[in-house]
Amino acid sequence: MNNAVQEEFWSTSAGRSWIALQSEMDFILRPVLDLVLQKACLSDGDRVLDVGCGTGASILEALKKVGNNGHVTGIDISQIMLDYAKTRLKKSSNFLLLKEDAQLYDFKYERVDALISRFGVMFFQNTTAAFSNLSRALVPEALLTFAAWGPASQNPFFIQPASIANHVLGSMPKVDRNLPGPFAFESPERTIPLLEAAGLQDITVESIPLLLYAPESAMKTAELMCNIGPASSALIYFKPIYSDRVRLISALAEWLQSCETSKGIELSAQINLYQAKKAY
Ligand SMILES: C[S@@+](CC[C@H](N)C(=O)[O-])C[C@H]1O[C@@H](n2cnc3c(N)ncnc32)[C@H](O)[C@@H]1O
Repeated sequence: MNNAVQEEFWSTSAGRSWIALQSEMDFILRPVLDLVLQKACLSDGDRVLDVGCGTGASILEALKKVGNNGHVTGIDISQIMLDYAKTRLKKSSNFLLLKEDAQLYDFKYERVDALISRFGVMFFQNTTAAFSNLSRALVPEALLTFAAWGPASQNPFFIQPASIANHVLGSMPKVDRNLPGPFAFESPERTIPLLEAAGLQDITVESIPLLLYAPESAMKTAELMCNIGPASSALIYFKPIYSDRVRLISALAEWLQSCETSKGIELSAQINLYQAKKAY
């Protein structure tokens, strides 16, 4: 079972949007990256595997932790996102970018001390097969640390644009959130057995509240939401006339204005931070 649908998605519309909005997305999601890196406790000389590394923000930060004696391998299914990551990493040498499906890639030579991921592991057709395969790249007792979105209801970044788009454009077909996608790991009760079946041990999950901040005005952030996330999916689905698109942007901007604080537009988030070890 491969991940062709995800490869297509991340190599076209989604990948292009993440590249165009890379600095804004990295600003918004920075607290999640800080959390992953803090929990992963990387140290000088570590060899790290970054799964679903996308445009490379986490590789850049992991390289600072592991220093010149360490090494970071980023694996991603999207060539365009990796091409972009490569341009951001041009001052570093101790990294490798693999354009591969992490569920299927034949890890022959990799022997890494730690696996990290910010939102890069919830898109596999077969989670157990993917983590069994990833385990082959790890040394015994290597630590896996990855962040996934907690319940949709606790993440206004998704739930509010979805409900506003629903109000302005109409309701979208229901999506099974257990399928590959941002909320595939929202339930630890469902996810932990899948990881156990992959042979991982000492699995923990912490539900961590975070505050995320938008770097720009309510209007700019509303436009960003029309390119990434549920409002963007609704626009792709309904292909509305121009005036309805404008109504959607204004409704999103109005909600975002109500989230303005002295620190900027503030969105609460709930992250599931998973950790596990490869069995000895
Ligand atoms: C939500 S983005 C996160 C990107 C990056 N980790 C970040 O936080 O900026 C999800 C990433 O997972 C990658 N991805 C999805 N399925 C994959 C697979 N089977 N193997 C490798 N990467 C995959 C996508 O191409 C995309 O770059």
